[in-house]
Amino acid sequence: MSLPAKVRIVEVGPRDGLQNEKVAVSTAVKIQLIEDLAAAGLSEIEAGAFVSPKWVPQMADSAAVLAGLTRDPAKRYPVLVPNLQGLEAAIAAGAHEVAVFAAASESFSKANTNCSIAESLERFWPVMARARELNIPVRGYVSCVLGCPYEGEIAPVAVTGVAKSLMEMGCYEISLGDTIGVGTPLATRRMIEAVAGHVPIPQLAAHFHDTYGQALANLLAALEMGISVIDSSVAGLGGCPYAKGATGNVATEDVVFMLNGMKIETGIDLDQLAAAGWRVLHHIGREPNARVSRALWQKQQKSQA
Ligand code: HMG
Ligand code: MG
Repeated sequence: MSLPAKVRIVEVGPRDGLQNEKVAVSTAVKIQLIEDLAAAGLSEIEAGAFVSPKWVPQMADSAAVLAGLTRDPAKRYPVLVPNLQGLEAAIAAGAHEVAVFAAASESFSKANTNCSIAESLERFWPVMARARELNIPVRGYVSCVLGCPYEGEIAPVAVTGVAKSLMEMGCYEISLGDTIGVGTPLATRRMIEAVAGHVPIPQLAAHFHDTYGQALANLLAALEMGISVIDSSVAGLGGCPYAKGATGNVATEDVVFMLNGMKIETGIDLDQLAAAGWRVLHHIGREPNARVSRALWQKQQKSQA
């Protein structure tokens, strides 16, 4: 077992989180959130998505978010693009980095992007070519790596095929998404073992949703296998349109607390991070889906009593 000394956290709350929140969040609140997260030490913050506004209306103002953001030149603010149209819009809005997304399940691919897995990969070739022309780094996501809302269990070999294709196309990193949070640690380990046969571990990231409360355990399994990039969402923002009552991504606060306890460096200030979560949830009107954030708040209340 070799744990990494340092972990790079990719904050996906402003995109993956807010794309699934029912309460509409204004552009100004999104900008404030991203700036708060940068101030808390996050160095990579997914800032939006240039997808069809008919499919995901919550991300329709992504160009305005990028335009209004005060960007720290030392930090990265990637956005999601599903096709060349999205990439061109992202470039016009001043994006410096993008991510493409495919799925390991045919049914999910159809539901999410209205095409088969093979067609989605075909769409990425011109995206990759244009991005290469402009020196724009492209990250690749694979969804449903541990289960699909329509097909159930997904075989590791299905994940491997898509991850390998994205890597061969030129993605600098492959983020493995347990989209509906059904994975458990041994299944996580088996899936990563299979993918690592084709994509080197340093180029893999773990993107786990916490629907069934397994995300931290799965992340530990991923860390033990040498993965040192974790995607997470402040306050556990988000949900899942395919699973009623589901929570969103694993909360960044919970991940940072665990990594702090393991003496793994992240560069993130936990209190500032939790404050960023409370601030955005004030606009959404609920408490954080982050156990650590709620515990810190209770501790603070007791010390003030
Ligand atoms: P489609 O309807 O098949 O697209 O959608 P089309 O090419 O036939 O075009 C139809 C209309 O969409 C046209 O407009 C296009 O201009 C427009 P109309 O003529 O009807 O007015 N259009 C676009 N508009 C804005 N931006 C674009 C764009 N492309 C076409 N880029 C499409 C296909 C892929 C566009 C659609 O299905 C889509 O936008 N899907 C995105 C769904 C999405 O964002 N899902 C969430 C992100 S993935 C995720 O969360 C998983 C992840 O977190 C990892 C994990 O957890 O597993 C990454
Ligand atoms: Mg996700």
